[in-house]
Amino acid sequence: MPLTFELDPAVSPALRDDLLALWADVSNAGGSVGFVPPVTADDIRPELVKHLVAMAEGRTRLLVGRDGTGAVAATAFIAHNTHRLMRHWVWLYTVMVHPRHQGRGYGRDLLAAAADAARGLEGIEAIRLTCRGGLGLERFYGSCGYKEVGRVPGAIRVAPGDDRDDITMLLPLL
Ligand SMILES: CC(C)(COP(=O)(O)OP(=O)(O)OC[C@H]1O[C@@H](n2cnc3c(N)ncnc32)[C@H](O)[C@@H]1OP(=O)(O)O)[C@@H](O)C(=O)NCCC(=O)NCCS
Repeated sequence: MPLTFELDPAVSPALRDDLLALWADVSNAGGSVGFVPPVTADDIRPELVKHLVAMAEGRTRLLVGRDGTGAVAATAFIAHNTHRLMRHWVWLYTVMVHPRHQGRGYGRDLLAAAADAARGLEGIEAIRLTCRGGLGLERFYGSCGYKEVGRVPGAIRVAPGDDRDDITMLLPLL
């Protein structure tokens, strides 16, 4: 059953808890969304609060995918640039699908919904994101139409002695 996507849902305390639980479950399953396991919802809350503040200020949009039961199964944040010369493209952050739903095409659906959402924003011509090397994520984004446009070797230290490339991917929307 496909996920149902919603852009900018009302942020209730229940949705905040669901986002934290998803982010923690994805991180603890080894997902590269800014943390390394083990993490708790409390570790993640300050990062979520930053996104919520940006959303309240209109700089960031939240895309949520729900499964057939209504549970939050996938998210991505779409962020505008503050730099005046970079307002024609957006960042995509925290792309994640709950581990129990991964591998069924929901990630690709999530990125298609993000591209649709970005196309609906005035003047937006591209989506840019970064991902951690060593996990094959470039292949996932590539299958969604993104091209690798940059790579900083070893920029992400996930553990002492385990440095990963910071890869920049770009999806032109025009
Ligand atoms: C990355 C992620 C969003 C992909 O979502 P998904 O629902 O599992 O992916 P899909 O089922 O839509 O897969 C789409 C394609 O990408 C491939 N793919 C998915 N995850 C991949 C990975 N980690 N490495 C390589 N290829 C991957 C699939 O094999 C599939 O290709 P195919 O059609 O040729 O078989 C999801 O696995 C996830 O949330 N991971 C943890 C969080 C994370 O690391 N996010 C990335 C932040 S940069």
